[in-house]
Amino acid sequence: DKAGHKHFMAKEIAEQPGVIGAAIGHYLTPEGEINISTQDIDFSQFDRIIMVACGTASYACLTAKYWFEQIARLPVEVDVASEFRYREPPIPPRTLAVFVSQSGETADTLAALRYCEGKAARILSVVNVPESSIARESDYALPIHAGVEVGVASTKAFTCQLVVLFALVLKAARDREAITAEAFADHISGLRGLPAIVSTALEQNNTMQEAALKLSHARDVLFLGRGQMYPLALEGALKLKEISYIHAEAYASGELKHGPIALVDEHVPVVVMAPRDALFDKTVSNMQEVMARKGKVILISDSKGQAEANDGVWFSIEMPPVPDALAPILYAIPAQLLAYHTAVAKGTDVDQPRNLAKSVTVE
Ligand code: M6R
Repeated sequence: DKAGHKHFMAKEIAEQPGVIGAAIGHYLTPEGEINISTQDIDFSQFDRIIMVACGTASYACLTAKYWFEQIARLPVEVDVASEFRYREPPIPPRTLAVFVSQSGETADTLAALRYCEGKAARILSVVNVPESSIARESDYALPIHAGVEVGVASTKAFTCQLVVLFALVLKAARDREAITAEAFADHISGLRGLPAIVSTALEQNNTMQEAALKLSHARDVLFLGRGQMYPLALEGALKLKEISYIHAEAYASGELKHGPIALVDEHVPVVVMAPRDALFDKTVSNMQEVMARKGKVILISDSKGQAEANDGVWFSIEMPPVPDALAPILYAIPAQLLAYHTAVAKGTDVDQPRNLAKSVTVE
């Protein structure tokens, strides 16, 4: 049932304030503590984390790496499951292995988990399907409470994965005494405010549709982001290519001048994801290099960022203000809507794109 929407993907994008709220409700107590039912996870027992997943779930892992390292001071390595499993990486003791999967049945992720059995100190998974193989074979399985996701393009599962991972990061920061009580409380209240901010972003639907109409004529699109927005650039590019079939690549903004800027000319739209945070000025200078080569910039930023930097851009998409650490969750919304409306404009099969399956149970 598409609940009045044209596609399951549209329905699932629209559901996000509700399901993000549900995920937050499951992982926070009314008193503002982290509620992770498997009480015996204690992050002071671990020296490092490895995170393994495929596709969009791997971008949730990459985002969490920035959070774990910056907020909990815990080193994290992220890998895609198909590479990890055959590399036979050594797993030092005191390693927590984390697997993220919407379906909980992805063959490569499951094989990577089995490789870690008996090697990692503990195995934790973040899944949408609590009865799945990956959940059953983990020491701890944390459900994301996103509800059934039908569209092949993952949307609400991604943002709910990020919410659960963020709660886990706060728990880690607490266990490792890496955070002040004040900073912890700020993050908790930021999380509580998130569903309302996501709703506000969804109200920009028409603006995103307008931007998508422009994008739909492109042959190649670049996505740029820096720091924790880099994984979001990867997610935006994946979403666009899988449902609109437009070639899209993402780069860390700072990598631009090490090669990809050679691609930029007046035919190439460049989507820049840049909330007005500590790295904003750096990203803006990369964006100006793009514009100097006539690249067409779509700037996704908040009102402050737009006021400072949208001179000369091709299109501006304004996001509501959000606490810095939570920007990746909010900026998933424009990434999804740009891809969705571009695909609709091109008339592709949005929910069931060619050559793709919802759950990849073969390697
Ligand atoms: O079920 P999983 O989360 O393990 O699936 C992983 C990927 O196959 C999945 O995220 C895929 O990349 C999506 N189609 C992206 O939208």
